[in-house]
Amino acid sequence: MFASTILRALLLPLVGAVSISVNRTASSSALHTWWHSTGEYNTQTPVLDGNVRQSGNYSVQVSASSNASDPSSYYHSFVYETIPRNGMGNIINPLEPTILSTNDDGISIEAAIGMTMAWTSFLFSEDVCVKISRLDGGSTAASNVIIHPTTLNYTKTEANGDLYVTVPYSSRGARFSVEFTDNLYEFHSNCALSCTVGGLVQNTNPSGESYWQEPFDSRNPVVGVEPLNSLLIFASAFPAPEMVPDPASPTSLVVEPGLVTDVNTTDKNTVIFNPGVYYFSSVAHAALSSTVDWVYFAPGAYVKGAVYFNTIAPTMKATGYGVLSGEQTFILNGVTINAPPFNSMDFTGNLNTLSTQVSDYKQVGAFFGQTDGLENYPGSTVQDVFYHSNDDTIKTYYSDVTIQRITVWKGTTAPTVQLGWASRTLENILVTDVDIVHSRYPSNSSHPSLVGMNQLYTQPDESDPYTANVANHLRNVSLSNFRSEGISGALFRICPLEIFDGFRLDNFWIEDFAPAVTAIGLSELPQFFDATSKEPVGVSGFVVEDFTVFANRTAVTQSAGNWAMGSLGSMNIAPVYVASGGVTIV
Ligand SMILES: *[C@@H]1O[C@H](CO)[C@@H](O)[C@H](O)[C@H]1NC(C)=O
Ligand SMILES: *[C@@H]1O[C@H](CO)[C@@H](O)[C@H](O)[C@H]1NC(C)=O
Ligand SMILES: *[C@@H]1O[C@H](CO)[C@@H](O)[C@H](O)[C@H]1NC(C)=O
Ligand SMILES: *[C@@H]1O[C@H](CO)[C@@H](O)[C@H](O)[C@H]1NC(C)=O
Ligand SMILES: *[C@@H]1O[C@H](CO)[C@@H](O)[C@H](O)[C@H]1NC(C)=O
Ligand SMILES: *[C@@H]1O[C@H](CO)[C@@H](O)[C@H](O)[C@H]1NC(C)=O
Ligand SMILES: *[C@@H]1O[C@H](CO)[C@@H](O)[C@H](O)[C@H]1NC(C)=O
Ligand SMILES: *[C@@H]1O[C@H](CO)[C@@H](O)[C@H](O)[C@H]1NC(C)=O
Repeated sequence: MFASTILRALLLPLVGAVSISVNRTASSSALHTWWHSTGEYNTQTPVLDGNVRQSGNYSVQVSASSNASDPSSYYHSFVYETIPRNGMGNIINPLEPTILSTNDDGISIEAAIGMTMAWTSFLFSEDVCVKISRLDGGSTAASNVIIHPTTLNYTKTEANGDLYVTVPYSSRGARFSVEFTDNLYEFHSNCALSCTVGGLVQNTNPSGESYWQEPFDSRNPVVGVEPLNSLLIFASAFPAPEMVPDPASPTSLVVEPGLVTDVNTTDKNTVIFNPGVYYFSSVAHAALSSTVDWVYFAPGAYVKGAVYFNTIAPTMKATGYGVLSGEQTFILNGVTINAPPFNSMDFTGNLNTLSTQVSDYKQVGAFFGQTDGLENYPGSTVQDVFYHSNDDTIKTYYSDVTIQRITVWKGTTAPTVQLGWASRTLENILVTDVDIVHSRYPSNSSHPSLVGMNQLYTQPDESDPYTANVANHLRNVSLSNFRSEGISGALFRICPLEIFDGFRLDNFWIEDFAPAVTAIGLSELPQFFDATSKEPVGVSGFVVEDFTVFANRTAVTQSAGNWAMGSLGSMNIAPVYVASGGVTIV
């Protein structure tokens, strides 16, 4: 049924007890934090197999006490860190780590400018106060701090050089970015409209990639702003009991920390990674034996590798609040062209029988290019997710899916919601409550948009509109309540590859577009035609309602006359679709 089911995740959420205490950690019903005794401060090179990269920028403690000013109520929460390419350089084969490549792995200036992404996770069942210390002694004054999504509006105060953020309990958890204004980096592109393919450039590291020798000027529009050394905080509710396996069960294999050798030969059903650091020999993945249908990562488990399920069981699970880190195995997969290299999850087999139930999933440190979001097979429900993603992020390639409460940190390419690459029939899709906290599209050619239907995968670009299939249709697809903070991509970039019959974009809020000269903010809906019959693709019931661009504080509507290219809404829509009433903007 599901031949060779593959799960490759950067970070999987969910549970546990027990913690390795070097620093003081909490293990109560109100708060659970954890620590790694083998943290390695290292922003340059791969860390040792048994080590975990630890943030050299931040330390975090958490209090669940009603008296958050009591210093003794704070417990350490380990702050992990990811650096671009894990410090390995642009290599193709981890077995040949000294052979550098010029292949585009999606990373350009990130290593050169010293970008890092740190994060910490803990479990809570009550309101907590998170204490953040900057190890560089920089300012933590509340006025120097921005929390994204900004709508969270958490209370933040500074005391004795530390920042305190109050996080109200939510059964849905909390996922947010804490940013210091003195650490924000402005990303400049190397060209405006005159270039077909722009790229990011930097002027701080002459020996680093994409160094721009001249002073930045009008040729170098700012296309994104992000912290150089980011810090994400993930608070999760304690897991439901059915998400935590019994280690004493005769069907459980409890893996020994260190080099993993036995998960491919076990006859058990459940593989448990308790707190500790795990790794696989050289470039091997965790190829699970066919009996395994549940992998559990306890809080404090840090597993370096990718997990391959080989089960035919009707239900398979990956749960736990531990970390599955691709730092050992990403690059090997990078050379595969058919299965895009760095997706966090791929399945092969009969996809129509697969559905996924995802909650509280977090993907971080996605510096590589093809770091897509999860696949959402028919019937899937996905909720409360954080994606750091450099490619198609919320993939809606199948019908009957509901996706909600997604926080997205968007990298350099592809739309946040991707409906395209092929003509499909898509029905009954709901994507709602999406917060995009950052975007940094370098150019018009990077498919910059909140919602996109890309041209057929086999086409070089959008220039041939005779690629649709009118035997397919899109119906009852609703995307609503999107907020995009900072400089954003366009509202949509849609090549209508099938008949549109009910497509709603409701309540979209974009803080600002990239400078008009880049065309990054330009929405596109050209007329397309059936590849065989050459008949035009019908578009009806395409509604944009309550779309606001904040920088201008103005709603974009047909009656306001501000939707078209060259005006605030910046939409380039085939006139026939507007004239026919197939597209309305209200
Ligand atoms: C414990 O935490 C403190 C500060 O948060 C840090 O200075 C110290 O290095 C940590 N101990 C270990 C063993 O990591
Ligand atoms: C992070 O650490 C690096 C290296 O010490 C330093 O240059 C940078 O300013 C730090 N960033 C923050 C936000 O503390
Ligand atoms: C809170 O803790 C501080 C420091 O321990 C103490 O001075 C204060 O009295 C406490 N407040 C309450 C209301 O218990
Ligand atoms: C944010 O919180 C402050 C104080 O906690 C409150 O005054 C303000 O109205 C809130 N803003 C929003 C947008 O909720
Ligand atoms: C299982 O994995 C170990 C470690 O990678 C390897 O040495 C062994 O050959 C594998 N066994 C089978 C049956 O694949
Ligand atoms: C439209 O899709 C939603 C799910 O997004 C579903 O609940 C609803 O029943 C569908 N409506 C129709 C008319 O099929
Ligand atoms: C931007 O890219 C789109 C294709 O994604 C293309 O149709 C359009 O012509 C480009 N706009 C400019 C101004 O280059
Ligand atoms: C908003 O943009 C329009 C042009 O699209 C301009 O006419 C108007 O003055 C702007 N409004 C504000 C408040 O900036």
